[in-house]
Amino acid sequence: MATVDQLFQPIQGRTDDTGSKVTVVGVGQVGMAAVFSMLTQGVTNNIALVDVMADKLKGEMMDLQHGSAFMRNAKIQASTDYSITTGSKICVVTAGVRQREGESRLNLVQRNTDVLKIIIPQLVKYSPDAIFIIASNPVDILTYVTWKISGLPKHRVIGSGTNLDSARFRYLLSEKLGVATTSCHGYIIGEHGDSSVPVWSGVNIAGVRLSDLNPKIGTESDTENWKETHDMVVKSAYEVIKLKGYTSWAIGLSLAQLARAVLSNANSVHAVSTYIKGEHGIEQEVFLSLPCVLGQNGVYDVIRQPLTETESAQLRKSAELMDKVQEGIQF
Ligand code: NAI
Ligand code: LAC
Repeated sequence: MATVDQLFQPIQGRTDDTGSKVTVVGVGQVGMAAVFSMLTQGVTNNIALVDVMADKLKGEMMDLQHGSAFMRNAKIQASTDYSITTGSKICVVTAGVRQREGESRLNLVQRNTDVLKIIIPQLVKYSPDAIFIIASNPVDILTYVTWKISGLPKHRVIGSGTNLDSARFRYLLSEKLGVATTSCHGYIIGEHGDSSVPVWSGVNIAGVRLSDLNPKIGTESDTENWKETHDMVVKSAYEVIKLKGYTSWAIGLSLAQLARAVLSNANSVHAVSTYIKGEHGIEQEVFLSLPCVLGQNGVYDVIRQPLTETESAQLRKSAELMDKVQEGIQF
């Protein structure tokens, strides 16, 4: 009798279903930062990796598998064949090209649309009930593109959006105030990137709104120049790309947080790129970030933030820009 047969007295057959399978397409800097974050934080222990680079795929899979003793019984598979993604609860898309130094995110739109035209139908084929979380840039446009290509309900197609911008904003606030980032509360909404909108009226520490203490906060006439904090958020990606060639760790952690919200049906609130027509007077079919309640079936609610006329106008301007870019897309 073989050793294994001597070892086990079978009671019932095994199952691979963990109920938490996550597919990540794109095993580049962002994809692997997200995978590493999800595995080491215990967001999931069931990962499928897909890319077009077979050797990179196998190398990343093996390297992660070798770390299994430090994880929670992780199942990690990788293939250029999308059949390994079958039954995913979440599909995270990080595939595509990234900005080179000096390039804007919007410069990537057609190249990455062409990538999604290949990827999205395959993912939907094997995981038609999944929640799609898009990171590839320009993320708001590509979330719209994913929604159009996939035919999925809009509440199941989410862009990582300004979850990252809001995290950067909170970090910079914490540096300015000397309080932990987790105790600095505030949202950046709208476009992930150059035309994002800081909601200064909501920035608070322990419920104390900074705008109550400094009514000019965020305006040009604010002598304390808090506006610079948001300006630094907008510049941050360009700075990091200039220094290390790409950004990865913060977006990886952001994607892990969003995946956790979905897998654990957390009903937690995150600024993510969602279908925004009808909110704040927006008339276009575009995706931009607003604080949303996230759970196992995607977006449950959009938080109706009271915005100043300036904030609403900035949001509507972003929507017009997204709509204009979308008009030029070759599907
Ligand atoms: P990368 O070049 O390191 O990785 C991209 C991966 O996509 C590569 O492994 C490549 O082989 C793969 N890929 C390309 N075409 C593919 C296809 N048809 N099917 C499957 N895989 C394919 O790039 P990086 O740094 O990981 O960035 C990826 C994307 O994420 C870029 O568009 C970048 O702008 C975006 N990004 C978004 C952020 C956000 O906050 N939403 C933050 C940082 C990056
Ligand atoms: C960012 C870019 C790359 O890190 O989207 O914000």
